[in-house]
Amino acid sequence: MVSNRLPVDRVSEGEGSGWRRSPGGLVTALAPVMERSDGAWVGWHGAPDEMVEPFEHEGITILPVPLSSDEVENYYEGFSNATLWPLYHDVIAPPEFHRAWWDSYQRVNRRFADAAATHAAEGATVWVQDYQLQLVPAMLREGRPDLKIGFFNHIPFPPQEIFAQLPWRRQVLEGLLGADLLGFQRPNDAANFSRAARRYTRASGKGTHLTVTEGTHDGGGSPRAREVRAEAFPISIDTARISELASRPDIIERAKQIRQDLGDPTTIMLGVDRLDYTKGIRHRLKAFEELLSDGRVKVGDVTLIQVASPSRERVEQYRILREEIEGTVGRINGTFDTMQHTAVRYLHHAYPVEEMVALYLAADVMLVTALRDGMNLVAKEYVAARRDGTGALVLSEFAGAADQLKQALLINPHDIAGVKDAITTAITLPHGVATRRMKAMRRQILVHNVEEWSSSFLVRLEEVCP
Ligand code: G6P
Repeated sequence: MVSNRLPVDRVSEGEGSGWRRSPGGLVTALAPVMERSDGAWVGWHGAPDEMVEPFEHEGITILPVPLSSDEVENYYEGFSNATLWPLYHDVIAPPEFHRAWWDSYQRVNRRFADAAATHAAEGATVWVQDYQLQLVPAMLREGRPDLKIGFFNHIPFPPQEIFAQLPWRRQVLEGLLGADLLGFQRPNDAANFSRAARRYTRASGKGTHLTVTEGTHDGGGSPRAREVRAEAFPISIDTARISELASRPDIIERAKQIRQDLGDPTTIMLGVDRLDYTKGIRHRLKAFEELLSDGRVKVGDVTLIQVASPSRERVEQYRILREEIEGTVGRINGTFDTMQHTAVRYLHHAYPVEEMVALYLAADVMLVTALRDGMNLVAKEYVAARRDGTGALVLSEFAGAADQLKQALLINPHDIAGVKDAITTAITLPHGVATRRMKAMRRQILVHNVEEWSSSFLVRLEEVCP
């Protein structure tokens, strides 16, 4: 496995320090696969300018890749999160193109590829994760043509017309085409990639089945054709785990406590996001503020809990966003709060999964208003936690999850009037209608969980590899 972040977090335990498995669906899904197959995981351990020796953790070999502070700035904050991230999310923020960032991205991708090439056994399967490492598949194949190489893009792949802005578009596509199987969240992402590959590289073929010709520029041998597939594998969550947590007495008790602490409003609405401009937090707040000032909802009856977990705080667009969100929350609360009740309970923190599940249980309405999102696992977690079938999910049609959670109240987050109507519908949804919708969504994610996601990708990779 190769991903920008390792599946372990450092914890300090009194005297020494140790590592703990990171929370999150991807790690939960892949850890058993990795343990069974005597696997190794290549990734960055999260701190700059530090070498960490390889170590074993719960049956997985951890191979830390070092990044200098200059590389954190140029490869991670720069090219990954201020060039690719906004470019791949519909240019919601303007992407920046800097040659020094691109140089660093290539250098770091080479380091990850070298680490994987050094440690992979003959004929091994290597699975590369996400947009930070798009050059790794081709770099790996160069030195290790024996490997089966998969790549999964967790974020959207943009339409060709937007992708075209990238000065290094050909190199990125050629990097990805080093894989045997490319996985995307939605069929449209796979189609966007294939179109761009046919337009800007020598890849040919129909639909999402591409043929790449390689191997003549050194003058030796005849050209060889290789097949590359680009297909959709919508990621999911560890549904059973969230559902189990939602039945734990202490967590149910905690959910009641949260409601009480907020003064027992009739309706609690919840937003949970990394503090990111793709999540549509401003649009959500605007809709709520207008509902309050129109008098369609009242403080005391309705409270919005907004959890915004800190993210990429040194990147300028994220700083600007934080200022805006916090200014807006302050204005709304200053205008509408009473001594007893608040309009928005804003929390700039990250919480452990137990507290998240308590929040899902406490919330009557979940608001997911992303302007663009590869999948959005929060929407799926909310559904997984609602064992009794109550609760309403307002979900952006621009999140990948909308393909699977069709019974949600689907919205276009740019249409503020539509968002306001969906919120009021959600608040007043008759019990029978709400449970019918929620139960249908639960059936979907109980079957299509993250374990099914990873095994279907790996089975398909076996199939397509000669
Ligand atoms: C998204 C990306 C992941 C990334 C995560 C957190 O979900 O798809 O690759 O790890 O955000 O972002 P961070 O920059 O903190 O790793």
